[in-house]
Amino acid sequence: MVVGDLDPEVVYMVATSEENMWLLLAADWKRRAVIIGPGLISSHNLPRWGTNSRTSPKTSPKTSIIFEIPVVDLGSTDRASTVEKIRAASENLGLFQVVNHRIPVTVMDEMLQGVRRFHKQDVEVKKQFYTRDLSRIVVYNSNFNLHSSPAANWRDTFFSFMAPSPPPPEELPEVCRDIQIEYSNQVMKLGGLLFRLISEALGLNNNHLGDLDFDKGLSIAGYCYPACPQPDLTMGTTKHTDGGFLTVLLQDEIGGLQILHQNQWIDVPPIPGALVINIGDLLQILSNDKLRSMEHRVVASEKGPRVSVACFFGTSLAPSKKVLGPLPELVSDENPPRYRETTFHEYGQYSFSKALDGVPRLLHWRI
Ligand code: OGA
Ligand code: NI
Repeated sequence: MVVGDLDPEVVYMVATSEENMWLLLAADWKRRAVIIGPGLISSHNLPRWGTNSRTSPKTSPKTSIIFEIPVVDLGSTDRASTVEKIRAASENLGLFQVVNHRIPVTVMDEMLQGVRRFHKQDVEVKKQFYTRDLSRIVVYNSNFNLHSSPAANWRDTFFSFMAPSPPPPEELPEVCRDIQIEYSNQVMKLGGLLFRLISEALGLNNNHLGDLDFDKGLSIAGYCYPACPQPDLTMGTTKHTDGGFLTVLLQDEIGGLQILHQNQWIDVPPIPGALVINIGDLLQILSNDKLRSMEHRVVASEKGPRVSVACFFGTSLAPSKKVLGPLPELVSDENPPRYRETTFHEYGQYSFSKALDGVPRLLHWRI
């Protein structure tokens, strides 16, 4: 393609790497699109409508304000104070970091290494996982919403549901399957603890959320954010809230994660050994807006590749009639339900179809 000949009728996409250009070109394009690779954008500016600048205001990490993200010590013996810190952070910010969470640093490091190994593999190996079919055990693609988003995010993802029905190990990528299983098991245990603490923070019996099985479904995403030659033109991940109950995020030392607080983008600094916990839309619904699901994003960077691992406690896409809505214990005549009831299935379908398109999904269920 000759870059000088940009055609206004064409949707331009940014591909994150040469490899992905190849993969994406091989994909089943539903509409006319042209892939612009890093080699081209490093010497030519992209038209505005081909970048993420339209959906994500241009704010470089340098302009974000300094603000302390709460760090909760899960090893503390003062349970009341731990619960109180989690309550305050989940109500005000929707995000906190945890230390002394009992997941060994060696397991965390190996998980990040596993994600690096996966993304570094030869295209021919990764090709077998490349799909947009979410019923596959492993879903690997550059952007799951590539056909519907105005511009691509500067990241590649592999994704699997891990619980309650663990996938057959031999179907997971060989270079990271052992650690993917080990890390997911550890995150499930941590989730058990977090759901107990959050139940207490909501003034409920500590097994309340667990008894409703909200801590039983886990999916894992291993991200690679390649170094980006023109970070101001795109986003690592466009602004969004997470759709599930709770996300446990492991990020490497590069940084770039930011949350929107009082109209300012605030860095969530990588802390060695810590995990980032953020409240998802479903906990906001269940708590009838007491807990907040916070908008966040990842800025693109000239440094990279950055890797991160997100574990989502949430619903699966499997048909389920299980009902979701504000918990009866948390509503009253003075505090009536602010969301209509939905089912796991309807929630999963809608929530996934709208992920990362910039529209707050919670509005769909708001009364
Ligand atoms: C997500 C997310 C942040 C990151 O996957 O929902 O916000 O640092 N990821 O990769
Ligand atoms: Ni997120």
